Amino acid sequence: MTDASSTPAVPVTIHRGDYRPPDWQVPDVALDFALAVEATRVAAALSVVRQADAPTPLVLRGDGLTPAAVRVDGEGWNDWRMDGADLIVDLGERTAATVEIDTLIHPASNTQLMGLYASNGMLCTQCEAEGFRRITFHPDRPDVLSRYKVRMEGDKAAFPILLSNGNCIAKGDGAGGNHWALWEDPWPKPSYLFALVAGDLVVNRDSFTTMSGREVELGIWVRDGDLDRTEHAMQALKDSMAWDERVYGREYDLDLFNIVAVSDFNMGAMENKGLNVFNTRYILADPDTATDVDYDGVEGVVAHEYFHNWSGNRVTCRDWFQLSLKEGFTVYRDQCFSADMGSPAVKRIEDVRLLRAAQFPEDAGPLAHPIRPDSFQEISNFYTATIYNKGAEIIHMMATMVGADRFRKGTDLYFERHDGEAATCEDFVRAIEEGAGIDLTQFRLWYSQAGTPRLTLSLAQESGDWALDVTQTVPPTPGQDDKQPMMIPLKLAAFAMDGSGAALPETLVTLTGATQRVPLGAFAARPALSINRGFSAPVIVDFARADGELAWLAANDDDPFARYEALQQLMLDTLVAAVSGKARGSQAVIDAIGQTLAGAATDPAFVAEAVLLPSEAFIGDQMVTVDPGAIRRERLALQAAIGTALESQWRAILAGAAPPATDLSRKAKGGRRLRGVALAYLAATAMDDVPALAFRIFSDADGMTERQAALATLAHGDSDERVAALDIFYQRYRDNPLVLDKWFQVQAWSLRADTVDAVKELAQHPDFTLANPNRVRSLYGALSGNQAAFHQADGAGYRLIADLVIALDPKNPQTSARMIPPLGRWKRFDDARAAMMKAELERILAQPGLSRDVTEQASKSLL
Ligand code: PHE
Ligand code: ZN
Repeated sequence: MTDASSTPAVPVTIHRGDYRPPDWQVPDVALDFALAVEATRVAAALSVVRQADAPTPLVLRGDGLTPAAVRVDGEGWNDWRMDGADLIVDLGERTAATVEIDTLIHPASNTQLMGLYASNGMLCTQCEAEGFRRITFHPDRPDVLSRYKVRMEGDKAAFPILLSNGNCIAKGDGAGGNHWALWEDPWPKPSYLFALVAGDLVVNRDSFTTMSGREVELGIWVRDGDLDRTEHAMQALKDSMAWDERVYGREYDLDLFNIVAVSDFNMGAMENKGLNVFNTRYILADPDTATDVDYDGVEGVVAHEYFHNWSGNRVTCRDWFQLSLKEGFTVYRDQCFSADMGSPAVKRIEDVRLLRAAQFPEDAGPLAHPIRPDSFQEISNFYTATIYNKGAEIIHMMATMVGADRFRKGTDLYFERHDGEAATCEDFVRAIEEGAGIDLTQFRLWYSQAGTPRLTLSLAQESGDWALDVTQTVPPTPGQDDKQPMMIPLKLAAFAMDGSGAALPETLVTLTGATQRVPLGAFAARPALSINRGFSAPVIVDFARADGELAWLAANDDDPFARYEALQQLMLDTLVAAVSGKARGSQAVIDAIGQTLAGAATDPAFVAEAVLLPSEAFIGDQMVTVDPGAIRRERLALQAAIGTALESQWRAILAGAAPPATDLSRKAKGGRRLRGVALAYLAATAMDDVPALAFRIFSDADGMTERQAALATLAHGDSDERVAALDIFYQRYRDNPLVLDKWFQVQAWSLRADTVDAVKELAQHPDFTLANPNRVRSLYGALSGNQAAFHQADGAGYRLIADLVIALDPKNPQTSARMIPPLGRWKRFDDARAAMMKAELERILAQPGLSRDVTEQASKSLL
């Protein structure tokens, strides 16, 4: 049984400009849950206080609910009616009242994973953004903040653990094998931060002493058997708590902080007050089952959710158009934290790579929207790379312009001024302006204008002095044809290539005009220019530079990010030329990689990132029309050329022993990463011994990083070792869902020509299920990230994704809608592919009873 029928496709567009403060506030909410997996009774008591001057009915949002009873101030009440899914209660002249409503909900058939749902016999909630209205009737908007008191009762054997936000203030046994608990959260919060968990869980307990000396009890709750995989998450939590005190002066504000891991979850994790709920994939890690990337993911997401306690919970959002207020800022905070915990240069490279892979295409396509959108139909569709990752870049730019100390003054003012409030992006910008002392008038355009700005640069010489001419354009995006010039902080430096050092030391230039001349100084010869150092602004830089200049920068620039960029640009120029039939040889790239590899012993992590070829998708992004087949061919050819030319270096990297999997130091992680890259370069050459080598690494591996890298390499090929390794991996991990996800994923990532067929077959595998979002993403998400497979010329990849969207929508519209954007990129492809992609979008839209989520994404993708 599925229940998506409760969110019918009514394409109502909500506009930011229509915001009105709530007519009623709800200072207190009391909830009483009679828990059972099939049917849970919810008795809600809302104390409501009128804010509007004149009498106005109380509008309580609902989704799939029927009121079993309505009482006002303790009396049965008849002055209510349903308006669609919402409950309208007429309270006459009253200015305050207690409204009680009983509802009956069905967790076991809640396949959307929004509201109260069952996962492996346990009950848990997900309320952001609008899931609370699936539990009980409520205004369910983030500017209505309440104090929550939650009583829950249920079978003691089925649900030995009963958790909610705040503190447990009483508990006891009830009748018929039941027990109950009463939780109270002293901090007023919006309904989207409410959480409840009931289940058979075990806990990893620890504690943290805050900067003012308060003892906080920490708990990470998981299923029996998973406890020994929670240590890394616990360490990350304690590190995050200390970091937020040290860097932002923010202390935790409850005596208890709980995290629960659930295997069925639509997103990564959720910052519910004092009771974070996590996708297991961002909690569980041990060397045998998690890669170094997985470890970093756990650390980053634990930090992210913890940091929300201030940036999101103590200061929340006035409305969902302000989502980036909490998400952009919190991503920025978790990025800085991870940089501090590991390598800042490598972290920056990873963040920029993700921005370019996920956000730049979004900003260039039909779903482009500003980080503060002006309208939406379904807010779930706006948890995007733009809101999160571009949002973080906007904060990064402000911090760059004012420097760390002034930025801290700005955030102090923000937290102090808006503590306990539901704030706006404008509030944040004003606090930075006042606290840090900077005029951000023009900078505000970053909040309202979508599209990635493009800077076109050229060097000019006037009477011995050199200057940089900069033209900026912001491309048109849906609903925004004309753009104004943005305020862009651009870090640059110039070097004399004869080795005489920095011609111009690092300088921060603030661009404001459509065209601008930036004086650089007097140099004897044309300098090598290092542009957008540290990726100071999320822009595309068009600047023709000779291979020699890029190679020089790749070897000599003093900013590691700029060294990475120079080498990437050299690779991109080479690949784009090859794809366009203008082969120009790979020697410059080979030499630059060879030189970079010389630094492998000192900083293997950086070197591993730097020598990696740009992704097929990013190569495509540089072209007017993407040719997926040619891109794959030329990228593999270059990879093979590099593999052959530098064979002895790659073999030397693999000859040494891998660092022990239990060693999670920066150096050990970097070493493993570089070994994976070396193996991939050798594999591209099709040298005879590679399958055996990969299989040996696979078999000898003492941890998942090496094992997965070797398996992924084998999965690209056609060897007996491939078949054997996939089988061994499956047999060994078939009972571990997170590792089984990897088994599906490496096959969907494969560069083999038959990958689409393989995915189609894997979808029929007994271990495949549409009920688990991680499993869906590991198969289909991996396929749509596999450019040449997804864009297979016969359209089979498109069909497969569209079939999935159609099959999944009735069960889980949120996760289904997230699969649509790759189909919306049709304008970037040839006519034949574009026609097939559009046809699939149209086929999706023709389905009866489509959710609002999918309707919005598919129809916008056709524009
Ligand atoms: N607010 C969560 C986060 O970023 C993301 C999320 C959104 C989770 C909606 C669930 C549902 O931290
Ligand atoms: Zn977040």
